[in-house]
Amino acid sequence: MICEEIHKAISALAVNYAADQICVLIDEKVADRAASILDPQWPTLSLAVSEQKKSLETVQQIWDFLFAHGITRRGLLICIGGGILTDLGGFAAATYKRGIDYINVPTTLLAMIDASTGGKTGINYGGLKNSIGCFAPPIETLIWTGWLETLPTKEVLSGFGEMLKMGLIVNDLWGALLRYDLDTMPIDSLQPLIAQCVEEKERIVAADPKEEGLRKILNFGHTFGHALEEKSMDAHARSGIEPLDHGYAVVYGLIAELYLSVTKLGCPKEPLQQLTHLMLHYYGKPNCKCSDREALIALMQQDKKNERTAQINCTLIQNIGSPLINQVITSEEANEALEYLFSL
Ligand SMILES: NC(=O)c1ccc[n+]([C@@H]2O[C@H](COP(=O)([O-])OP(=O)(O)OC[C@H]3O[C@@H](n4cnc5c(N)ncnc54)[C@H](O)[C@@H]3O)[C@@H](O)[C@H]2O)c1
Repeated sequence: MICEEIHKAISALAVNYAADQICVLIDEKVADRAASILDPQWPTLSLAVSEQKKSLETVQQIWDFLFAHGITRRGLLICIGGGILTDLGGFAAATYKRGIDYINVPTTLLAMIDASTGGKTGINYGGLKNSIGCFAPPIETLIWTGWLETLPTKEVLSGFGEMLKMGLIVNDLWGALLRYDLDTMPIDSLQPLIAQCVEEKERIVAADPKEEGLRKILNFGHTFGHALEEKSMDAHARSGIEPLDHGYAVVYGLIAELYLSVTKLGCPKEPLQQLTHLMLHYYGKPNCKCSDREALIALMQQDKKNERTAQINCTLIQNIGSPLINQVITSEEANEALEYLFSL
């Protein structure tokens, strides 16, 4: 889809709403490029995003913006940005006057292949990632890969991290991801792999929209990944060190959870070796400021994915394309997996 098609798609959806009932929420980094696809009459709130700003205060700011422009329950919010913006915008839309329609226009790789579809919305709260939120799918997600031309390499790698996760839990994707050379291949050549990831996610979500079973396979890498991300957010607040990007945390989480897949479920070692190679080549080692194993285990015990507290629950894989949900991990096993990750 080219940008002109996004313009047409937004305009076609907008005709279903009164002109004074449409608002735009946009990541400030794409605001200039997006101007041509938006009606200048639509009120626009431009935000600088960060995990720290994925907060209740920002949601209040969005609610205030919607109230200030007299948006009723028949309004529409157009969310244009990365996963932080679409998670925030979706949550604000889902809770404003008990829910208004919203459209996602993802502008990062991660948001295209993951965050903008599936209906999970939310914010960080109490030092925990996405701990407040709800399921509320957008009425449409409009993907245009041209946005990626301005995306910094670090953010491309972050999105690629979630693609690697998808490659490990479904069939027929891992080999293509291993062959994809991010150093030399033009970003638009990712297009077929993006389409495949979106298709797989839509298939999984359609079968289990509320994450009661199958959808939990998408959490592979995230029990450890979220703990690492939360620890890095805490270290950032205390000493200003650069926090981990979500997709980097997922890659490190995948290494730990692949290690457990090998030791607990007999998964072949090859995917772990292949991912370790990719990690060292593209992502580097996890920051030692996040390596307090006791604190990480405590965070995992509080993770919202765990139905009972003090129990660590993970998705693991028996092989590529064969995930197993609800695997209980002891703190000793978690400690061993972290020791492995930090020894690389
Ligand atoms: N809802 C879900 O199902 C789901 C799934 C996965 C991840 N997430 C969430 O997504 C978030 C991460 O999303 P993300 O990686 O997109 O991060 P992000 O939204 O922070 O975007 C990354 C950076 O890129 C900038 N940016 C956005 N588009 C750009 C463009 N086209 N050109 C240049 N810069 C651009 C942003 O301003 C930001 O600095 C996390 O909070 C994670 O929890 C949600």
